[in-house]
Amino acid sequence: MNDIVRRVDHCRVCDADDWIEVISFGSHPLANGFQPPADSYEETAYPLDVIVCRRCRLMSIRHVIDPEVLFGHYVYLTSDSAQITGHMRHVAEVAAERSGMAPGDLVVELGSNIGTQLGIFQEAGMRAVGVDPARNLAEVANRNGVPTFATFFGAEVALRIEEEHGRAKFVLGRQCFAHIDDVQGVLDGVNAVIAPDGVLAIEVPYLLDLLDDNQFDTIFHEHLSYYSLSTLTTLFARKGLRVIDVERAPVHGGSIIVFATPESSPHGVRPSVAELRALETTRGIGTDAPYLAFAERTERAIGRIRSTVRELVGEGKRVAGYGAPSKGCALLQFCGLTAADIDFCTDTTVRKQGTVTPGTHIPVLSPADARRDPPDYYLLLAWNYAEEILAKESEFLRAGGGFIVPIPLPAVVTAETVNDAAA
Ligand code: TYD
Ligand code: ZN
Repeated sequence: MNDIVRRVDHCRVCDADDWIEVISFGSHPLANGFQPPADSYEETAYPLDVIVCRRCRLMSIRHVIDPEVLFGHYVYLTSDSAQITGHMRHVAEVAAERSGMAPGDLVVELGSNIGTQLGIFQEAGMRAVGVDPARNLAEVANRNGVPTFATFFGAEVALRIEEEHGRAKFVLGRQCFAHIDDVQGVLDGVNAVIAPDGVLAIEVPYLLDLLDDNQFDTIFHEHLSYYSLSTLTTLFARKGLRVIDVERAPVHGGSIIVFATPESSPHGVRPSVAELRALETTRGIGTDAPYLAFAERTERAIGRIRSTVRELVGEGKRVAGYGAPSKGCALLQFCGLTAADIDFCTDTTVRKQGTVTPGTHIPVLSPADARRDPPDYYLLLAWNYAEEILAKESEFLRAGGGFIVPIPLPAVVTAETVNDAAA
């Protein structure tokens, strides 16, 4: 292996070095590594092995890729789907309610991408500062009037923000915390900029949803950690931050927003915290069993997705992918489904169109091109938007087309069954 890969020996949350080996997916190219079409491809494959810390129960991948390689020029744009836009408005509302912030107060967001979420805070009269390591994205955000530092979040940039803008009443990290290796350094940064009565909110995909729904495809090199509330609580406590509230959110297959505050702040703890901790205890997340069961179900799910697609292809049906999300690219890689099985993937993201999927080399087409020659079945790779997509594609369904929804286990949805599936 080369020097851009680091093997995890010590847990990033609790420093222990006692791991359970849960599942190994083998080695794969990066899930966001779309390639221009070519006769042959030279792609580097990196190992993808899942481990769980015996002490704090952090679920992690074993190998960490240099974040500059993954995020220095990041191609992932904040989704403009109706679901995500609605969710961001909701986050702005709960932020105001939990932290008591008022117009003029400072909001700092880490992993702020092109500044869409911060723009909502600005509309409400807050001052907003973003931090994102992707220089290309920070530039767009700055151009759009959202002041953004193009760097990795940590104590250094936090101190600079504090000097230039003062302390933040609200610090937010949406769907980026799971990408971070040096989480303790990031929380040092939070402590350097958060007001004594400020609130931190971290939104991460939720471990219980991942386990319950077999979301094995959300495991790829960008996602280093898969958090429970318990493990996040352990981490925050190490850095003097007290969890005061938690909320489950339906985005990205099921997420939690965890609210924390400096230990000495006056905020009380809401019952939601003990309730979710109790659920996690009931579900045995402090034991080996749920992780090992997940590994078994994942192997079964991968086999069934592969055979569902191949049976249809064997019957002479054309199968295409709907969406080419990173997780979809991971799913295709894990299932060994390539251009030999899947005709094309259709995706609304312009920069993905005209490329091929990493590792599996399936051409990505625009929705307009896909509609000109629709397949018999779509494998719904962007399954986290199932409701939105099934509604949008009612014509395809009415014309006799079907969707294979791969997660939690492959199920075929047609015009007759669509209402049950969307429910
Ligand atoms: P997303 O779920 O944000 O995830 P990730 O890459 O983290 O797994 O990606 C959704 C992808 O699906 C994105 O490339 C856009 C695409 N998409 C469509 O092509 N059509 C749609 O109607 C929707 C909602 C998404
Ligand atoms: Zn640990």
